[in-house]
Amino acid sequence: MVGSQIWIIANWKSNKTIAEALEWVSEVGSKIERRDNLKVVVCPDFVSLEEVKKAIRVGNFPLMVGAQDLSPYPEGAHTGEEAAVDLKGLVDLVILGHSERRSQFGETDEMVSDKVKLALESGIIPLVCVQSDQTPIPEGVKLVAFEPIFAIGTGNPDTPADAEKVAETLKQRYPEVKVLYGGSVTSDNSQVFLRQNNLVGLLIGGASLEPLEFVKIVESCYAI
Ligand code: PGA
Repeated sequence: MVGSQIWIIANWKSNKTIAEALEWVSEVGSKIERRDNLKVVVCPDFVSLEEVKKAIRVGNFPLMVGAQDLSPYPEGAHTGEEAAVDLKGLVDLVILGHSERRSQFGETDEMVSDKVKLALESGIIPLVCVQSDQTPIPEGVKLVAFEPIFAIGTGNPDTPADAEKVAETLKQRYPEVKVLYGGSVTSDNSQVFLRQNNLVGLLIGGASLEPLEFVKIVESCYAI
């Protein structure tokens, strides 16, 4: 949306070794501009988080760090889970309720709501993915990403007009939320989504893996 804070968020999913992650950070970090109205967030897998965070600090790059999930429980006997309090200080944001988590790992709206609560208690910004304008948005959430399932990883993005319509409906129901779009975003279509009145950012999977393509997407917002 013209004139407001723009969020560009890279969701690497289960990709990249630590070495590949660090290569991406130095390439992207040195090429993108620091701008007051732009927040660029990279979400690596858990194993790369700390090294990515360190590389961003050392390079003084205009990048924030996010996690792709966190535990629905506080710290305790929950094997394999990352508790929000343990991610505190390491990440600025967490992606919650992604459709892959819902379909592959049985994540329910109730679990998303529990995770949101724990993220907020730890000062981590929850970015909740919604698959339609009917997906419930837990209290306290200020950032959501509309990601229609047909558009994820398919090369078949939603139309900007439809994404705008969904964003408008979401904002009517939840006036406090800002809406991002995700699903087959590339440097060819990023700008047209960002020009919609009710869209303030992008959540990018596949196209975020390639540093130069991601830089192009970030550059496409400079003109917004
Ligand atoms: P995609 O994924 O950009 O590869 O479609 C987006 C997402 O899953 O967040």
